[in-house]
Amino acid sequence: MEIDKIYQGDCMDLLKVIPDSQVDLVIADPPYFQVMVTDHLGNKYEWDKQWDSFEDYLKWCKLWLTEVKRILKPNGSIYIFQDDKNCAYVQIIMDKLGLNLENNITWVKPNNMTIKGWDKFRCYAPITERILFYSKERGYIENQMKIKPMKKIRDYLNKERKKAKLSLDKMCLLCGLNDEGHGGIAYHWCSSKNPVMITREHYKTLKQKTGFFRIPYDKLLKEYKLVQEGYIKNRRTFNPKRNYTDVWTYNITSSQENTVHPTQKPIVLIRRIIDTSSKENDLVVDLFVGSGTVPLACQQLKRRWVGSEKESEYISLINKRLKQKNIHHFEKDVGGYEKNIVSKNNNFASQPFAEGDIIIAKFNKIPKRNFTLDEPPSVSLRAFPDGKGT
Ligand SMILES: C[S@@+](CC[C@H](N)C(=O)[O-])C[C@H]1O[C@@H](n2cnc3c(N)ncnc32)[C@H](O)[C@@H]1O
Repeated sequence: MEIDKIYQGDCMDLLKVIPDSQVDLVIADPPYFQVMVTDHLGNKYEWDKQWDSFEDYLKWCKLWLTEVKRILKPNGSIYIFQDDKNCAYVQIIMDKLGLNLENNITWVKPNNMTIKGWDKFRCYAPITERILFYSKERGYIENQMKIKPMKKIRDYLNKERKKAKLSLDKMCLLCGLNDEGHGGIAYHWCSSKNPVMITREHYKTLKQKTGFFRIPYDKLLKEYKLVQEGYIKNRRTFNPKRNYTDVWTYNITSSQENTVHPTQKPIVLIRRIIDTSSKENDLVVDLFVGSGTVPLACQQLKRRWVGSEKESEYISLINKRLKQKNIHHFEKDVGGYEKNIVSKNNNFASQPFAEGDIIIAKFNKIPKRNFTLDEPPSVSLRAFPDGKGT
């Protein structure tokens, strides 16, 4: 399989040539099934009408999702675009495949339609899509990188504890900790679930009061730091740089960013997914390349990528898009509510872009982050030696 290439054809053919557990991030924006209507130019968008029934469509989704699971690394992530109806069915398929729902993201598209006149439909005006964010194996990395390697330290502490004839409760009390206030922290020092590294102070106390626990603390600490490093390096990538909620507000593509593809996704949104859930040089797979937004964002963010697209007319469009020299990059990630950015802080109209340029986005001002409530917890292996978290 060649990297940084679009495979023209069915996504299943591409999936078959990707070996197991190789991919860091899959982004899939599939047809939503019979939502595309023939446009004023007579484009029928047959790719959205390939299935005889919704059941057939779901069977097809199950086929490629099964393959997606196979190609993902254990710490890999998947983002699937869906509409409000299909999303419920696809979520069930993914759950049944044993994938883990991390978020059901609501993408709000303020400029998607004019609300005027909607009241005649006697329902609320739909201005959202869903993005299902799943991980492959929750807990895998914890087991491999944290719990298992901690066994060595844990076994040693248990051996010394038994030599000193200490129950876990007594071990706590000896360190001046009682169950009430500390929840029996010694269980975490010595047990296989939720391992916590003993602090220097408590280790010293145990040594002084029992005469056992003779291995120098710094040696244990060195061992522990290796565990910690391995864990941090190998856990699922998640580095959000903006607000952390599951409601994202992005306008649909502006006329300057638009290609002829009817369902092109905004590159700022795609960049956000790639930036948050992968690292430089990671391998990103896009099963439904369309206008090439994912490959373009991967090029900009230095990710390796591979994608499939069925329709030959889009392949030439993608190639053209990827070859553009004068792409105006997003120099910085934007914080705060994207809503403000797309509606107020851009000045597309006044930018002196050369003919043929693809305008990605250009903003004068980076809004301040104003979120505090839903900040994610800091990376943590629970209590660190000397009582510090990461
Ligand atoms: C919703 S669009 C993707 C739009 C894309 N995210 C973008 O930003 O331009 C879905 C694309 O999948 C392609 N497609 C449909 N069935 C496919 C299949 N079985 N394998 C590969 N591509 C397929 C369609 O031709 C269409 O371009």
